[in-house]
Amino acid sequence: MPMKNIAIFASGEGSNAQNIINYFKGSALAKVELIVSNNPKANVLNRAKEAGIETLTSDRRTFYETSSVLEKLKAANIDLIVLAGFLWMVPENLITAFPNKIINIHPSLLPKYGGKGMYGMNVHKAVIEAGEKQSGISIHYVNNQYDNGDIISQHTCVIEPSDTPETTAQKIHQLENDFLPKTVFDLLSTKY
Ligand code: GAR
Repeated sequence: MPMKNIAIFASGEGSNAQNIINYFKGSALAKVELIVSNNPKANVLNRAKEAGIETLTSDRRTFYETSSVLEKLKAANIDLIVLAGFLWMVPENLITAFPNKIINIHPSLLPKYGGKGMYGMNVHKAVIEAGEKQSGISIHYVNNQYDNGDIISQHTCVIEPSDTPETTAQKIHQLENDFLPKTVFDLLSTKY
């Protein structure tokens, strides 16, 4: 079976991208072929360079008004796109070209704490302010609305009264590490 190719879209730190890179290192099933970022200063680009993975950075106009990202994804024979801390909405041309082949990791139990502006620490602050007893992660397909596509899986963690947004973020990152790479593996080995 030919190797499957993963593209990761990320805007910032890239710890989820790193987890996926590490998980598939030496895999016979798939490899991370391309990392796309909207932010030329994102640390994820350093991680990609370190791992010898090709990168593409795109400004807003190029991303939304040209087909250059789509062409790059096609040229790289990408089978699955993983949004890992990617803060822009995915344009329609990519959603159409990759039906049910774009997934997102969101750091809450959707539909709670989703939507525009709900990313990273903003989510964890809102969870703590609301006095939630649990939080978690949602892995879902991407459609043309923020955090709205069909859920693939959700995983929960307990929020103690002593938890802060920072300790919640740590719990969430642990869940992301435990479940996102494995979910990518399962999708690639069963669906595509
Ligand atoms: C992750 O916690 C991810 O779930 C979240 O951003 C963080 C990125 O961290 N994504 C969203 O909030 C999407 N709405 P990372 O850059 O270290 O992987």
